[in-house]
Amino acid sequence: MVSSSAFAQQNEAQDMPPLKEAFKGKFLIGTALSYLTLQGKEAPSEAIARTHFNAFTAENSMKPGSLQKTEGQFNFTEADRLVEMAEQSGATPIGHVLVWHEQTPAWFFTEADGKPANREAALARMRTHIATVVGRYKGRVKEWDVVNEAISDAPDEWLRPSPWLKSIGEEFIAEAFRAAHAADPNAILIYNDYNIERSYKRPKAVRLLKSLLDQKVPIHAVGIQGHWRLDTPNFAEVEESITQFGALGLKVMVTELDIGVLPTKYQGADIAAREALTPAINPYTEALPDDVAQRHAERYRQAFEMFLRHQDVIGRVTLWGVHDGSSWLNNFPVRGRTDYPLLFDREGRPKPAFFAVAKAAAGR
Ligand code: G3I
Repeated sequence: MVSSSAFAQQNEAQDMPPLKEAFKGKFLIGTALSYLTLQGKEAPSEAIARTHFNAFTAENSMKPGSLQKTEGQFNFTEADRLVEMAEQSGATPIGHVLVWHEQTPAWFFTEADGKPANREAALARMRTHIATVVGRYKGRVKEWDVVNEAISDAPDEWLRPSPWLKSIGEEFIAEAFRAAHAADPNAILIYNDYNIERSYKRPKAVRLLKSLLDQKVPIHAVGIQGHWRLDTPNFAEVEESITQFGALGLKVMVTELDIGVLPTKYQGADIAAREALTPAINPYTEALPDDVAQRHAERYRQAFEMFLRHQDVIGRVTLWGVHDGSSWLNNFPVRGRTDYPLLFDREGRPKPAFFAVAKAAAGR
């Protein structure tokens, strides 16, 4: 947890405007709030979020497993808090996520006798979930990640063989967007995925997005999650993807940006991926060496310069977490590492990456 005194220091250390001022008129600059922050247990993180960011996503608290663990029993406590906190701060509340293969209870796809639910039952449960959740925040949550990670990473497979695909067929995607649009016709509806900005997955994403647009499905934006590393992906590849997605007439949101610095074989964000912990792949347990911090800052500078070149299509860039200590990357794809992927350090102080991003915004 970030200490309050360190947070005070980071405030003093700053001679730059808050990020949300720096990016005004360009795109929204967001962050994801942990469940601890939404429970009021991370006041310094909350303060950084309120100071610097003007779009708030719940990192976990609006996922189906958080909202409707048991059929018909909704728990909106943390989700309500996210929306209230955003509104109090003048930030845009972002909804994440309605339909995903992870963090979704098995009851959506299973009958009481343990047999798989039939198509109509699964579809009805999906529609009820979406109508209830989107309906509750109608006019308040301005953007929704409607479907998350439906595209397969496997070379010869288009869509991920998820319980949603198996129970409903590929129309589950279009049906989810239609249900969300019916519940809030003014919300911006997003298809969100990892690695669709990389060449191996981009054609599948373009195929899916075109097919939805051809069917007149209410989809307005594509979310590039942006879980990146120091050396991958190649930004030329990413820039080409932004151009191609924009050419479809969709907005592009960068929905979960972080840049991990640790050696990792796995290049995606499939939460099921795992690698074993060895000292060699956890090299910076005490501190991040300056040269690595500088490479990290340079990577962020290049990323934001790219986003700024495409500010006509980019609507929002959201960082996946507030500070390094709370990042999911400390536990992925290896549990118990010390990563440094964000703009604020474990004490809540702005890092070289923060200043690189702020300077990019100022055109310096
Ligand atoms: O719910 C328990 C909580 O009760 C307990 O106190 C806590 C202690 O460890 O664990 C809690 O659950 C964990 C939760 O994060 C909150 O920390 C889950 O086990 C863990 O799986 C979960 O991980 C999240 C992951 O999605 C899976 O939902 C990460 O925080 C979150 O950053 C990550 O976010 C995803 C996006 O939603 C979609 N794109 C990829 C991205 C990274 O995987």
